[in-house]
Amino acid sequence: MSTGFLSSLQSDYVITYLRNEVKVWQIGLALLLAWRAWSYWENRLDIPFYGGIWSFSRVLSIIKMNREGAQAFLDTYKQHPMVAVPRVDAWFIMMHPDFVEEINKAPEDVISNDDNILVALQVPYTLRNKIIENPYHKYVIQNQLTKNLVKIFEDIHDEIPRAWENLTDGHEWKRITMLPAALQLIAQTSNRVFVGAPLCRDQRWKSAMTDGTTSIVKLAALISLFPPWARPIVGRILSHPDAKSKEYAPLVAPLVEERLKMDPEDRPDDFISWLLELAPPEDQNALEVTRRLIGMNFAAVHTTSMNLTHAIFWLLARPEYIEPLRAEIAAVTEEMGWTKDALTHMVKLDSFMKESVRITPISSQALSRIVMKPFTFSNGVRIPAGYALGAHMYGTHHDPNIYENPEEFKGDRFLPKTDAVAPGLNYADDEEREASLKRSMYAASKTYLGFSYGKHVCPGRFFASMELKTMVAHLLMEYEIKWPEEVSKGAKHYRPENMWFGGALVPNPTAEILIRKRR
Ligand code: HEM
Repeated sequence: MSTGFLSSLQSDYVITYLRNEVKVWQIGLALLLAWRAWSYWENRLDIPFYGGIWSFSRVLSIIKMNREGAQAFLDTYKQHPMVAVPRVDAWFIMMHPDFVEEINKAPEDVISNDDNILVALQVPYTLRNKIIENPYHKYVIQNQLTKNLVKIFEDIHDEIPRAWENLTDGHEWKRITMLPAALQLIAQTSNRVFVGAPLCRDQRWKSAMTDGTTSIVKLAALISLFPPWARPIVGRILSHPDAKSKEYAPLVAPLVEERLKMDPEDRPDDFISWLLELAPPEDQNALEVTRRLIGMNFAAVHTTSMNLTHAIFWLLARPEYIEPLRAEIAAVTEEMGWTKDALTHMVKLDSFMKESVRITPISSQALSRIVMKPFTFSNGVRIPAGYALGAHMYGTHHDPNIYENPEEFKGDRFLPKTDAVAPGLNYADDEEREASLKRSMYAASKTYLGFSYGKHVCPGRFFASMELKTMVAHLLMEYEIKWPEEVSKGAKHYRPENMWFGGALVPNPTAEILIRKRR
């Protein structure tokens, strides 16, 4: 018998067997199991998950991580170059700074920044995708805002005393809860630049840009709790993408309409005009300008307020820095007046603020991204599509191989090391001045990630650091601050405990300080 005859007999037998014995549902089940096995294999992640036995549940792991706080982040960094930690919407892979450049250089369709923002803020249901697809507000920050900082400084310097005065009581000691107070200060000052006066002082606008933006985050977190397939349904039930923009647009409408009636050449040289200049024709209206302003305030206000609060808590926890800082500010402003350039010469202040960002960055991670196509890192670890990842900022900022005694707050850590250069006005030469700028608070690097790093580095960092330094310089020169006695109980380095929410490092939101005008 030939082998051809045998095999045709066998295949006839197999077909007959399949026809008679195997049911359709059995084939379906086999295919389903094969697909599950393949997708398990395709999506396997060979790195440790935070939480040990708790890691079967992301929610339990989050609770454990929030309670352990800083120590949990330090341990994960020390133990693993890559580790998955729990976030509300997904597991998030935190990576050693060695991998920062690979994250940064990966193409957008492989490791995506935009999709991360889309998911983190549930943009389709809270703000509309066009804010990501055509981010012209980002170009306004990168270009017009940053190029006009010398002029913008004057507005900020004018607004800051008014903002502090709203919260204080002249020469009488006043008790303020610092984080909410910082939100008011920063909302007013930043919006002096975004929408101008008097709207920046209008409590309805300030609340919209603080509480209103917080409510978007809460809504996004709620929608994220549902599986991705259910989000379009839940998102549409809970929210409308125009809701917030429509609510706040009437406040901005007069400013937008006034500019739209003018010849573009004659419009005032300000933020709203800059937005209108880049907006496509269909976005030349108050609703779209408001949407961009919400996005901008979103990026600007909470971040800057948390950093301001952390810095003020450090001033109170290390009061020995206060007088040297005052002396520097007094010397520089006496010589140069209150200008943006004068701020550049306040190197002690810059170093102090940078140290505050280093030791208490407002987030545990930077360069947050979503993997769109499987990506294999240089250590051979393959990350499947769908995972979120980013740099382990908290671990990096506390790494003893990068920063000496990283747990110690050293306000002068970023000052020039040599005696040849006196801090303050006297740069040895242009080279030293350049070096000083590279050391400065806004200078992003792979080991200083407060404003992130690389192609999506925060475009508002020059504005934010100018605003923060002016805010603190004004506070130091015009006010005295202290902890309420019953809180600090006279402890020398008292500082209220920070709180961890997911990956965010929030300065204690209920901590109060006492403040009065200096005599
Ligand atoms: C101290 C205050 C601030 C901190 C700590 C901060 C930090 C950050 C960080 C970590 C990112 C993420 C970058 C990445 O994913 O790689 C970012 C992005 C961004 N920031 Fe800031 N930021 C601050 C203030 C501001 C201000 C004042 C503005 C606007 C004037 C602003 C506008 C933006 C924008 C538009 C992005 C998105 C960049 C992009 O997607 O390419 N930020 N910021």
